Amino acid sequence: MSARPQYYTRTAQILHWLMAAIFITAWLIGFYSGNFLSYGTDGAFKGDIITLHKNIATPILFLIVIRIFWRYTHPAPSLPESMSAPMKKIAHVIHWVLYIILVALPITGCFFSWSAGHPAPVLYLFNLPTLIAPNPHIMAIVKPIHVYLSWFAGLLIVGHVFAALKHHFIDRDNVLKSMTSQAKD
Ligand code: HEM
Ligand code: HEM
Repeated sequence: MSARPQYYTRTAQILHWLMAAIFITAWLIGFYSGNFLSYGTDGAFKGDIITLHKNIATPILFLIVIRIFWRYTHPAPSLPESMSAPMKKIAHVIHWVLYIILVALPITGCFFSWSAGHPAPVLYLFNLPTLIAPNPHIMAIVKPIHVYLSWFAGLLIVGHVFAALKHHFIDRDNVLKSMTSQAKD
């Protein structure tokens, strides 16, 4: 059996950082719109901000397909020996949950929009095919899923970032470097 690599491939790294940037930007814009703007006082501006949120977030749906395929065909680096078995298990579970969030948030967002009678636009270029007709019953289900899942994702990502920084600055191991650097031949 060949040894596990020490670094993520360049492709995996680019996908991780590109999607992290999109995700964090979309999250901040969604949170701003959902909690600091109201249709009553901010009118069309809120509409524009939600549209921006959607246009930035939908590319995640395409990128995650490539990323899951890439992950399936390219194993992740092994975690440092210094980590206990339960900690390694927790790290793996959190990565799984992050992947599930990367699939579930944009999908629930699209169903939220369609059920409210709005499109799901991509980078101001085109709309995704509308899969359902406007439906307040579906909206009453997908809206809270999108909102609560986004809050949970926010908390998890704060933990994920702190874990990466702890590995780098306190444990001084290779975990953060595995996502930023390549082996020098
Ligand atoms: C990476 C993907 C996404 C993330 C991280 C994300 C995150 C969020 C967050 C944090 C909120 C605010 C929740 C709150 O009210 O506190 C939100 C609201 C919302 N999201 Fe998303 N979202 C994503 C994808 C999408 C997509 C693809 C769509 C639709 C095509 C969408 C449609 C909406 C809508 C309509 C709202 C309500 C905004 C408002 O009430 O002002 N989201 N999202
Ligand atoms: C500035 C913010 C971020 C930093 C510093 C960061 C750092 C890292 C590091 C160092 C790893 C490798 C961990 C390991 O080998 O155990 C990793 C993996 C991962 N990150 Fe992030 N990350 C950030 C943001 C995000 C965001 C926003 C998401 C998406 C929701 C995300 C999703 C993932 C996933 C799914 C993995 C597992 C990759 C795999 O094994 O295939 N990250 N991250």
